[in-house]
Amino acid sequence: MKKRLLLLLTLSILFFNCKKEKTIGLITDKAMVVSAREEASKIGADILQKGGNAFDAMVATELALAVAYPYAGNLGGGGFMVYRKNTGEIGALDYREKAPLAAHKDMYLDSLGNVIENKSTLGAMAVGIPGTVAGVFAAHKKFGSLPIQEILAPVIALAKRGVIVTSKQEARIKKYQPYFLKANKDSILFDKNWKKGDTIKYPDLATTLERISQNRRDEFYKGETAKRLVAFIQDNGGIITEEDLAKYEAKWRTPITFTYDDLRIISMSPPASGGICLAQIMNGIEPFDLDKYGHNSTKAIQVITEAERRAYADRSFYLGDPDFVEIPIETLISKEYTKNRMNDFLFEKSTSSKDVSHGNITMTESDETTHYSIIDQFGNAVSVTTTINGAYGSKLYCSELGFFLNNEMDDFSSKPGTPNMFGLIGAEANKIEPEKRMLSSMTPTIVEKNGQLYMVVGTPGGSTIITSVLQTILNVHEFDMGMQEAVNQPRFHHQWLPDVIKIEPTGFDKKVKNKLRQLGYELDQTNSPIIGKVDAILVLPNGKLEGGADPRGDDTAVGF
Ligand code: DON
Repeated sequence: MKKRLLLLLTLSILFFNCKKEKTIGLITDKAMVVSAREEASKIGADILQKGGNAFDAMVATELALAVAYPYAGNLGGGGFMVYRKNTGEIGALDYREKAPLAAHKDMYLDSLGNVIENKSTLGAMAVGIPGTVAGVFAAHKKFGSLPIQEILAPVIALAKRGVIVTSKQEARIKKYQPYFLKANKDSILFDKNWKKGDTIKYPDLATTLERISQNRRDEFYKGETAKRLVAFIQDNGGIITEEDLAKYEAKWRTPITFTYDDLRIISMSPPASGGICLAQIMNGIEPFDLDKYGHNSTKAIQVITEAERRAYADRSFYLGDPDFVEIPIETLISKEYTKNRMNDFLFEKSTSSKDVSHGNITMTESDETTHYSIIDQFGNAVSVTTTINGAYGSKLYCSELGFFLNNEMDDFSSKPGTPNMFGLIGAEANKIEPEKRMLSSMTPTIVEKNGQLYMVVGTPGGSTIITSVLQTILNVHEFDMGMQEAVNQPRFHHQWLPDVIKIEPTGFDKKVKNKLRQLGYELDQTNSPIIGKVDAILVLPNGKLEGGADPRGDDTAVGF
């Protein structure tokens, strides 16, 4: 009997330890890179090991993802970086795609004014001018410490050596093959029946990267690569010209900053909506005792949903490229403004999105993406989200150069009031104009606590990016979770329209779901098997780092 009890005790200790172990991420002393593929995290971390800083690692990780994670990593897309240096200096870099010079507001409409199916999502007309190469070179020029050739060498070697197909990648390639056939004139590398364990080599991409390594930024925007890229896009019916590429510039922006309890949040500014929306949602929920309601409890979900509903209504109306539209940022992110927006919320019944429009402000004020988080051994932090928009972007693959092109043009509002591929409704502020940047939901974010670096966080997920970042921060701050545990939690999302709470099918309490329905909330579990793939780093009280790599993907933390 005693023996059996002992065995039971040992087994249960083992069980609890295993369970606990699963929710603790990689812990390192000094430095870490968390990204969508182990190969990319490793290349970034190796650059840090060599003495490079977070910005060198950013260049390496971004380009390694273009090789190892063609689903979203890219040369043919764009992104945003938020940084915090060890001195406390903060900033942001916008390398978002732009509309070509020949773009115009009705370019996706037929003669009757209806949106032409697939035109803004599939093939060459969907492509915005890529910003990624300009982005990494801008980051490197300002803050890099290692020579660019040294940073690119392991990336080029990876492209030549090849990348092993994971089971998730096998499924993704299979799923999108019918679209590759539609978008491309000739067969492409990804038409092959790739299986888990196969190695995909990228010799053409390696050659492109070699040319970029040698001739730097201008290779992509003015050199041989530019010429070949434009010829390819035009041959496939697109409108991007050599002038478009030559005119592209990445832009340094001022990040959005705001406080939540004792945290200071630093996040991306327009043309990304992430920082403003996150501020509005967090301002909306700050007065409520979320920790007392409990994690993913009915009341917590209600408060968060109602704050999200109001923030996304404003997003739709006010936000666009700040170089083209005036955005009342200070008002939108002020605590006072959001307090008034939340005034009509009652716990007894859901608000209807029909009754919520954008707030009234007088203008008096002067689907695939990937995120990676980096902290270096010097204490610099970099938070980057990069994308070609849809899975494999426009599906148009330039075989000669070895990369997919984005379909970011779909992030504009093709027609005011008509939802885009993320169901987001846009208005005038986000209409198509030549050289304008399309509104984004990307939310690369850095959090300080008591003035010190605390968390680096971000995710893909289209419109759900903002709310996934939100929940990850809240899981740590309100619900005392570690980084990996916070990343693993089931997620939900509301974006004003459609008036539903998207909810991951597993992990939510049935009673909570029933109660929410009773209160008038519609739950959509079918559309979202997963919401986001968060990659984040938490600075622990002892100064060590804990990685949170999302198990929803092949995401991995590597560090030392
Ligand atoms: O910038 C944006 O908001 C979108 N292009 C992001 C797309 C995305 O996250 C797709 N991933 N699931």
